[in-house]
Amino acid sequence: MQIDTEKLKAFYADAPDDISLDNIALDRMPCHVSIIMDGNGRWAKARGLDRSEGHKAGVASLRETVTASVRLGLDVLSVYAFSTENWRRSQYEVNMLMHLFATTLVKELPLFHEHNVQLKFLGDIEKLPIETYKVFKRGLDETADHTGMIFALAVNYGGRAEITRACRRIVQEVHSGKLNPEDIDEDTISAELYTGGLPDPDLLIRTSGEMRLSNYLLWQLAYSEFYVTDTYWPDFNKWDFLRAIRAYQTRNRRFGGVENR
Ligand code: FPP
Repeated sequence: MQIDTEKLKAFYADAPDDISLDNIALDRMPCHVSIIMDGNGRWAKARGLDRSEGHKAGVASLRETVTASVRLGLDVLSVYAFSTENWRRSQYEVNMLMHLFATTLVKELPLFHEHNVQLKFLGDIEKLPIETYKVFKRGLDETADHTGMIFALAVNYGGRAEITRACRRIVQEVHSGKLNPEDIDEDTISAELYTGGLPDPDLLIRTSGEMRLSNYLLWQLAYSEFYVTDTYWPDFNKWDFLRAIRAYQTRNRRFGGVENR
């Protein structure tokens, strides 16, 4: 993806001491960064606030991260916003989140137009409340022709449900005679996932210190580099994002082999 160097310089203008244009290699940027945004509830609790305030504060971090990803020329940014297991939260919190997703998307659509960002959803969004689904559909339609970064929002997403769905779709193709079982390979499966057509994440960031995958992109993260920070999602900013990318650039990715970069 194209990087606008002037805008990138401005982006670094108020960088803290440990961050500079020199310590991030622009020619070795990850193509796809994925984030498990965690810690909104604990951020709110630490301030004596309702959990919903943590989610609202998390929207600002997300906006900053999307803008930073565009500036840095990423091809894909994906984020885990709501899992198939998150329906177990209180009805109040679920309703609040669904409303927040819809209102945020309406509010941020101009940002997607301004930066030529294409929106995608990972997960079964047809099962969402109709108001939320309608806004998501509108976001999809309005950004379908955008050719810049892809922003993929995982909502009502579960990795196991995704793989199960892919198996069903493949079996249907076999039943209908369109696909020979002998021809099924890893690419066949990748293509039937919600992420079909997207590169696998190079870097997975998880905030708030938890060391687990939480049923996220189980297939796609096979060879991704992991970066976990103790920072709660609402406190995560573009400098934390750059620190994660810098850590990624120090890793020696071998994909199971032995060769160096
Ligand atoms: C995890 O924190 C965060 C979520 C389940 C929701 C994430 C949603 C946002 C940041 C709002 C984004 C808005 C859009 C439009 C995508 P948690 O509640 O699990 O925190 P805890 O582990 O501290 O309880």
